[in-house]
Amino acid sequence: MSTILSPLRGVILAGGKGTRLGELTRVTNKHLLPVGPYPMVYHPLKKMIGAGIRDILLVSGTEHMGDFVELFGSGKDHGCRLTYRVQDEAGGIAQALGLAELFCQGARSLVILGDNIFEDSLSEFARHAEKHPNDAQVMLKEVTDPQRYGVAELKDGVVVDIEEKPENPKSNLAVAGIYLYPPDVFEVVRTLRPSGRGELEITDVNNHYLRQGRMRSHTLAGYWTDAGTLPSLHHANELVRVAMPAF
Ligand code: DAU
Repeated sequence: MSTILSPLRGVILAGGKGTRLGELTRVTNKHLLPVGPYPMVYHPLKKMIGAGIRDILLVSGTEHMGDFVELFGSGKDHGCRLTYRVQDEAGGIAQALGLAELFCQGARSLVILGDNIFEDSLSEFARHAEKHPNDAQVMLKEVTDPQRYGVAELKDGVVVDIEEKPENPKSNLAVAGIYLYPPDVFEVVRTLRPSGRGELEITDVNNHYLRQGRMRSHTLAGYWTDAGTLPSLHHANELVRVAMPAF
């Protein structure tokens, strides 16, 4: 008997303070800054639409939610249906994800951090996940500065642990801000406690699935970067100038 899977729902997390961008985010939100010819947040949105996702939730803080609504409206100009949710305070990526529970209504979710810029299409990632609907999926990418990210530790080619911003990284494989979760992710979020930096960490969610033997990892073939610091924002612009991602 084949199981009919409910369509994937998309969640773009575009809250947080953006303090690492200094004066650039004094009067606007990080995700509205330009990356190539588009505001940053276009990139994750277009990737979701490219993967066939039509129902997308955007989470952001109170300060600039109106700007996102003005930018995207209902989503009809982009061929999707957009819903918006306010994260009152920047309590962490996992806290922002928790706000998507009602929206996801028992469906699986493709979650992208609003400052992640990357080349790969997510169609294959989404298709692969259909074969393993009860597993979480993460994307890895080799980087030169792993201390800035969640970092995967591998044994015999398999991820056994993820450490958030380790001083002594066990590999140079960063966990990108592109995740696919089964419907029970919201139960996992409810078990979390704030980390040392006072946030609910997405790495704790991922380690939960790892410990349950329900985590699959993939490697991004094309370029990937976040754009949350001045050097990485500059790098993101350079990457898309040389090769605009296919949307
Ligand atoms: O980019 C990948 C990395 O993103 C991962 O390797 C890390 O494991 C993950 O923790 C995250 O690290 P950052 O320190 O770069 O996360 P940051 O606080 O910059 O947040 C990334 C995005 O998440 C941000 O653009 C908006 C969203 N966010 C963040 C926070 C803290 C929210 O929507 N709400 C929040 O409260």
